Amino acid sequence: MFELVRVVSKGEAEALVVGVFKDRKLDKATLALDTDGSIARAAERPECTGEVGRIAEAYPEGKGAPRRVLIVGLGERAKFKPSALRTIGGVLGRRLAQTKDSRIDIELAGILADAKPRVKPEFAGRCLGEGLGLIAWSCTRFKGSGSPPQPKRTQLFVRSSDPSMQQGIEQGLSLAASTNIARDLSETPPNIATPGYIADQARAMAKAVGLSCRIIEGDELEKERLTGLLNVGKASENKPCMIRLEYTPKGGGKKRKSDKPIVLVGKTITYDTGGLSIKPMPGMAGMKRDKDGGCAVLGAMHAIATVVKPDRRVVALLVAAENSISDEAYRPDDIIVFRNGVSVEVTNTDAEGRLVLADALVWACEKESPACIVDIATLTGGVVTALGSTFAGLFCDDDALRGRLERAMETSGERWWRLPHDQEYNDMMKSASADIVNSNPNRKAHPIQGAAFLSFFVEKSVPWAHIDIAGVHAVEGDSGPFCKGPTGFGVRLLADFVS
Ligand code: BES
Ligand code: MN
Ligand code: ZN
Repeated sequence: MFELVRVVSKGEAEALVVGVFKDRKLDKATLALDTDGSIARAAERPECTGEVGRIAEAYPEGKGAPRRVLIVGLGERAKFKPSALRTIGGVLGRRLAQTKDSRIDIELAGILADAKPRVKPEFAGRCLGEGLGLIAWSCTRFKGSGSPPQPKRTQLFVRSSDPSMQQGIEQGLSLAASTNIARDLSETPPNIATPGYIADQARAMAKAVGLSCRIIEGDELEKERLTGLLNVGKASENKPCMIRLEYTPKGGGKKRKSDKPIVLVGKTITYDTGGLSIKPMPGMAGMKRDKDGGCAVLGAMHAIATVVKPDRRVVALLVAAENSISDEAYRPDDIIVFRNGVSVEVTNTDAEGRLVLADALVWACEKESPACIVDIATLTGGVVTALGSTFAGLFCDDDALRGRLERAMETSGERWWRLPHDQEYNDMMKSASADIVNSNPNRKAHPIQGAAFLSFFVEKSVPWAHIDIAGVHAVEGDSGPFCKGPTGFGVRLLADFVS
């Protein structure tokens, strides 16, 4: 929608944004900006309901006045949630793209001081900045000469007279920019976004923001016994790889007692045909987005390097492969042995995500001495049935780790709901001929089966969380600050988790 959204500190605004709660009373700070009474008159009009995101406009006259005032609804004063500001940022962005106002003043700090519970202006600004930055994204890279010329995307410069709010907006815009990296990559079709392409993108990003990057591919995959990647990726001419990124704090994080890193793992299946257990036609379309866990980790690493800058190491592992079909494909009935010695009978080549994740989990436990591991994956259709597009599924039996992920959910607005681990689910994964199967043919508890399978590859002493994002990684139509397509779910959750 916008070519760029940026915070500026000076310059005359073309549009002014103020807020109103459902009771429609204008606060002192807004009244002080109402030089000719036009804002008060507009607030009386029936369309100014104060509902979240509803906009009424005023057109003040006189020298120095902005040409347009957007009075945006904030909902009920007593039930205000800062997360509403993400939706509001989206609504404002859509309107400003129509009006072509490119310099805007946001004056919401005054009225938000009246909200209950009170909202910190910095956090309010952050949410609004996220909304504006997320709505700015659109993907027209693949429109060609068969479409009408794309309208020129404008630039948006934002200012707030409240320094905390201004700082928050800047932070929100940066987090949105990291999220948009994940969305760009998710949108890229599978004939372009191969494992090698993702590796190139990761390498370039790492260079730009000062992360270290290592790609494990070819013979090295064999040497390192990354069985899942080798098998899932076998049928495709686009060869699999594991991408390892590392953030090291300036000064090496020496102040900390332990320098064990947080390890983030992302499922990066660049296309999921299902393999020989081929997906039916309606189930296959859209599987270019089976890399969205990896995209989220990549975006989170960008945010970690540019915004969060924590005083500890963070390692990212993206397990990238294309689950394709050929005479070289791995098959149902194959038995494969992982690096940690666990043997797996493949019952369904469409349960491929857990196989590549297993490689990264074993690697993390053996080689990274992790403080904790969080993996994120579009793992099962079952989680979509269970939780729809509202919550991701979270599996984590470590109370402290789950507590931190809960706080990250509250700040990022990226929500999850807890699902269980249990010995009975682990027992469902038993195999007659190998240790475990990759999928029990009984369709019971699919998302939980996935988590149960993964648990065989994590050392018991390592705090671990698995997030299944198959329901939330994309939206089917415009929704809040998102347009139809990828949401980049996980970028902000993981960035807040690390911070
Ligand atoms: N990538 C799919 C899961 C998926 C489904 C992601 C819908 C996004 C939207 C995964 O690899 C898969 O095929 N899962 C199977 C698991 C089954 C074979 C055990 C499923 O969910 O049906
Ligand atoms: Mn699959
Ligand atoms: Zn998949």
